[in-house]
Amino acid sequence: MASTWFESVAEAQRRARKRLPKGVYGALVAGSERGLTVEDNLAAFAELGFAPHTAGLANERNTAVTVMGQSLSMPVLISPTGVQAVHPDGEVAVARAAAARGVAMGLSSFASKPIEEVVAANPQTFFQMYWVGTREEMLARMDRARRAGAVGMIATLDWSFAYGRDWGSPFIPEKIDFEAARRYAPQVLVKPRWLLDFARTGKIPDLTVPNMVANPGDPAPTFFGAYGMWMQSPMPTWEDVAWLREQWDGPFMLKGVMRVDDAKRAVDAGVTAISVSNHGGNNLDGTPASIRALPSVAAAVGDQVDVLLDGGIRRGGDVAKALALGAKAVMIGRAYLWGLGANGQAGVENVLDLLRDGLGSAMTGLGRADVSALSRDDLVIPEGFERRLGDVAVANALLGTSPARARSREA
Ligand SMILES: Cc1cc2nc3c(=O)[nH]c(=O)nc-3n(C[C@H](O)[C@H](O)[C@H](O)COP(=O)(O)O)c2cc1C
Repeated sequence: MASTWFESVAEAQRRARKRLPKGVYGALVAGSERGLTVEDNLAAFAELGFAPHTAGLANERNTAVTVMGQSLSMPVLISPTGVQAVHPDGEVAVARAAAARGVAMGLSSFASKPIEEVVAANPQTFFQMYWVGTREEMLARMDRARRAGAVGMIATLDWSFAYGRDWGSPFIPEKIDFEAARRYAPQVLVKPRWLLDFARTGKIPDLTVPNMVANPGDPAPTFFGAYGMWMQSPMPTWEDVAWLREQWDGPFMLKGVMRVDDAKRAVDAGVTAISVSNHGGNNLDGTPASIRALPSVAAAVGDQVDVLLDGGIRRGGDVAKALALGAKAVMIGRAYLWGLGANGQAGVENVLDLLRDGLGSAMTGLGRADVSALSRDDLVIPEGFERRLGDVAVANALLGTSPARARSREA
């Protein structure tokens, strides 16, 4: 029998592709529109090189960090991802795997499992919220997360309802009825193992989002119902961000910050952490890779809040690169979803082990015994790699020009 262990995230992706129905797998790889951002998230990591030492390599590999008040075995967190019907145990399997490896869990408010079950599987769980519904409804959801024991809050606001992917819609049926069965049978029937996993548990893939209601067991909307509510909610202002932050007594992350000016506003709003992120390339296509924006954001606010990065992490070396450019930790999305699709909880543990080992190898070669010692000196950074977004006046000043001077030169 073939080994269930895989040696790279790329192999996890191949196995997930083999195992999952086309629509489910498609949702895991998709980026918005032309896919420029999702591609750049990977291309940018490939552009960064290492500057390894020959002797004096590190004997120790201390990867432990404290992020948002939580002691973690390594600088990696599970980024929240919405319901994907990848595996019947879904977020509970991911949370268990993360707990087994000393890693914190981010739970999406569009997840398929109730927060109470997820916190029971991993007490280091952060709850992620979108700006959906009224303030009262948001307070009720936060209150439930607090009662369940969430250790922190992640507010994700970088969503512009971008629509249309050049490679087709990765649609997943909302419920298994006759029409869905007719339409999806050709995809699903050729993936008997995926179907068998669900059949064994007696559950059918079901797209309700149980964390969108105030109490466990309250009738929950479907994913698409909740998405509709979200589309009708007015877009949040910076005052709303400050309000949301005030309602949570504990660590609070704003996820999806790409611009230096926004990072500063987030600090003013009182957040304790940000994630430099472009939503894994699922939001506004054409946004540069998050790793390109990281150095300027980390330089601007890294001494005031925990700066994390997500987008494009596929190996331990990528974690080392992000830390060297100023991140305290990274969050992963697709890498663990593919692990989950390939081999359930064990597949997610497998992915986390690969990241830890890869990070360890990078540390050894770079002569860094502790992750906190990684620095720009460890990297080969091609000219023009970085992108400073926002704060144009500062960027111009750094380049020795100012808009006024540029205008006068043009005149
Ligand atoms: C299938 C999928 C669903 C996602 N759902 C959410 C979500 O519900 N909330 C959220 O904050 N981010 C969501 N994200 C974004 C991830 O948290 C993360 O920012 C992104 O996946 C990181 O990029 P990576 O996949 O290259 O690691 C989702 C990403 C994917 C791929």
